[in-house]
Amino acid sequence: MDAIFKRRSIRKYEDRAVEKEKIDELLHAAMAAPSAGNEQPWHYIILDDRNILNNIASTHPHAAMLKEAPVAILVCADLTKEKYEGFWVQDLSASTQNILLEAVSLGLGTVWIGVYPNETRVNEIVKMFSLPQNIIPFSIVAVGYPAEFKDEADRYDASRVHYNKW
Ligand SMILES: Cc1cc2nc3c(=O)[nH]c(=O)nc-3n(C[C@H](O)[C@H](O)[C@H](O)COP(=O)(O)O)c2cc1C
Repeated sequence: MDAIFKRRSIRKYEDRAVEKEKIDELLHAAMAAPSAGNEQPWHYIILDDRNILNNIASTHPHAAMLKEAPVAILVCADLTKEKYEGFWVQDLSASTQNILLEAVSLGLGTVWIGVYPNETRVNEIVKMFSLPQNIIPFSIVAVGYPAEFKDEADRYDASRVHYNKW
């Protein structure tokens, strides 16, 4: 619960690399996510090349923070592992969220950058990384040591809760 409530989107980072061990922890968290039929239809591309990060920042309309982020994780789906049609979107969402939550407990700041289902963004990333036809770029998680601090957001709304009927 601590990580869930502490997590906020962090878009400013210290000028400091993230240790490989911490990236590995994030990837372990990512692959611990639940998935439909336990198909685990995910792949991750670690981006720590400044030119690549800047290039995405200049093509994606809401990814300017990648110009500052030391590293990012491109979360991709492998459609050859799609056992139950369409459920991969939820699998990849759960995996992305696991990265965000594990990052909190490692003292890292992250933000989820949406790619899928925006066709333009998907096509740009497919082209940039020459992704095979079965691989769909789903999200990008910018990662770094936080240089901005945000309060916990209390979004609990009792009017959204229903018992047994609408
Ligand atoms: C599917 C999805 C796509 C998002 N895409 C972007 C994005 O492209 N750029 C960005 O800066 N933030 C993006 N966000 C982060 C949201 O803006 C953020 O989660 C929301 O404003 C709530 O703030 P919080 O994360 O600090 O709680 C995205 C979040 C989700 C779940």
